[in-house]
Amino acid sequence: MTINYKWWKDATIYQVWPASFKDSNGDGIGDIPGIVSKLDHIKNLGADIIWLSPMYDSPQNDMGYDISDYESVYPKYGTLEDMDILIDQIHKRGMRLILDLVINHTAAEHKWFQESKSSKTNPKRDWYIWKPPKYDSKGNRQPPNNWVSYFSGSAWEYDETTGEYYLHLFAKNQPDLNWENEHTRNALYKSALSFWFDKGIDGFRIDTAGMYSKDQRFLDAPIVFPDREFQPCKLYHQNGPRIHEFHQEMFKRVTSKYDAMTVGEVGHSSHDEVLKYVGAGRGEMNMLFLFDMVELGSDPRDRFIYNGYNLPDLKTAVTNQAEFIGTEGWTTVFNENHDQPRSVTRFGNDDPKWRVQSGKLLALLMSSLSGTLFLYQGQEIGMTNVPKEWPIEEYKDINSMNYYNELLQEGASDERIAQFMKVLNLVARDNARTPVQWDASAHAGFSTGKPWMRVNDNYPDINAESQYNDPHSLYNFWKSCLSLRKQHKDLFVYGDLEILDFDNQKTFSFLKKSDDKTVLVVLNFTDKEIDFEPLVKGDLKLLHSNYTKVSQQLEPYEGRVYSVY
Ligand code: GLC
Ligand code: CA
Repeated sequence: MTINYKWWKDATIYQVWPASFKDSNGDGIGDIPGIVSKLDHIKNLGADIIWLSPMYDSPQNDMGYDISDYESVYPKYGTLEDMDILIDQIHKRGMRLILDLVINHTAAEHKWFQESKSSKTNPKRDWYIWKPPKYDSKGNRQPPNNWVSYFSGSAWEYDETTGEYYLHLFAKNQPDLNWENEHTRNALYKSALSFWFDKGIDGFRIDTAGMYSKDQRFLDAPIVFPDREFQPCKLYHQNGPRIHEFHQEMFKRVTSKYDAMTVGEVGHSSHDEVLKYVGAGRGEMNMLFLFDMVELGSDPRDRFIYNGYNLPDLKTAVTNQAEFIGTEGWTTVFNENHDQPRSVTRFGNDDPKWRVQSGKLLALLMSSLSGTLFLYQGQEIGMTNVPKEWPIEEYKDINSMNYYNELLQEGASDERIAQFMKVLNLVARDNARTPVQWDASAHAGFSTGKPWMRVNDNYPDINAESQYNDPHSLYNFWKSCLSLRKQHKDLFVYGDLEILDFDNQKTFSFLKKSDDKTVLVVLNFTDKEIDFEPLVKGDLKLLHSNYTKVSQQLEPYEGRVYSVY
């Protein structure tokens, strides 16, 4: 096995979501000076790169993923000067910074869209996707087709000014850009990419990276939910006809000129398709976020339809996300981000009795898998989902709100609403968006003022301050895992995966192999003791574990890593 080492392969990346990371001025909203004040928390953990979610100017309908100006900073987060300081302070600590690149759509408030909507003859009309209405048999105006938006309702919005609809795969104020137009693409390269590369950033996380190329026929999508008016339409906008041409152009024109890294959010994709994006020599992106693991149990067409999963499903997901690694492709390892609930709740056990132990178990799993490892703010201290009792008013995300409101509009029964609230509590993006719990003081030390979103009630028990000096804390355990991963990177970052107990519903045991070494990882995913069976020949020497003593029994949520000789 010849290993093709790269800085962005060995790196651990820590995602900062600015609204909830740290507030420096008491207005209840996280900000860039707040991030600067906590850089050592990230550095000491052992992270190498920071991914900062959108901090651009924005009306904040989708928390900054609706950008009104790529070249300025949302004033509540700070200024361009604050960004210079952030870049400088990150580099001074030997870390790097990547930003979020949101170029499938802008905010409706972006000046490009304001021009585009002003008249049918405006030079920027064609920068977005406009279509005339359809009329039904009764002569009622209807959207151009039946596509559903990811945030509920039609993906088309009627605009009075010119009597046409524009496409928005996400919120109404997130009109999709028309990538067919080369002037649009050039403007994006300049404003969204080059502007920030020239300021010294080290790469991008590329938002909805598989959606730029729409099937230009704009056909109705097949009806998969007969009781719904609008239908999932991935078929016509995911991995579309020109998507690879667009990525190659962007790489050639801009990204290739820098020593930059890119990671694209692509979701679910076949291996052949993945390799087109990340295959060495393709000149597109370095790696992708695939959703096999984070969306376990959810219907890929509608995340709020939740059917549950078992441990073999999780093993399949891990395999799917790693199978194409090698000289050809590269992958990512993650189980949290700003769009996902908390991993301890989803994949471990957030009962106070087990949450630290199961959090450590997950740390052992994630830090042993090949690919570039990503952590999301708060994951390192074991933040959990919000309490089940929180009413709908505490949920702020547009995805959650729109879905809930649509249910109300349809006249859903109390029972249906109660069932939805359960699923919402499990999978809502809000779970990741509560303020980071820094200490046990008021508002968890996140802000001196009232936070924009309620702090999780468990902050007196789960907070960073109480973990720094505790050798048994999750923070320090993650630290040890990240350092072991670095020390044996040929095994953990680059090694081959072999699962030993695929059908086992309770344990997850696998080997990681490099040319000359093998490690065995054994993880008990239950709250019961289980007999330990090595499932491999050879002498075992313990490298790491989340219990202080190991025996012939695997304790509840016990995980071990052994060298195999
Ligand atoms: C991506 C982002 C998500 C956002 C959406 C629209 O999926 O991660 O937060 O809502 O794109 O930009
Ligand atoms: Ca602030």
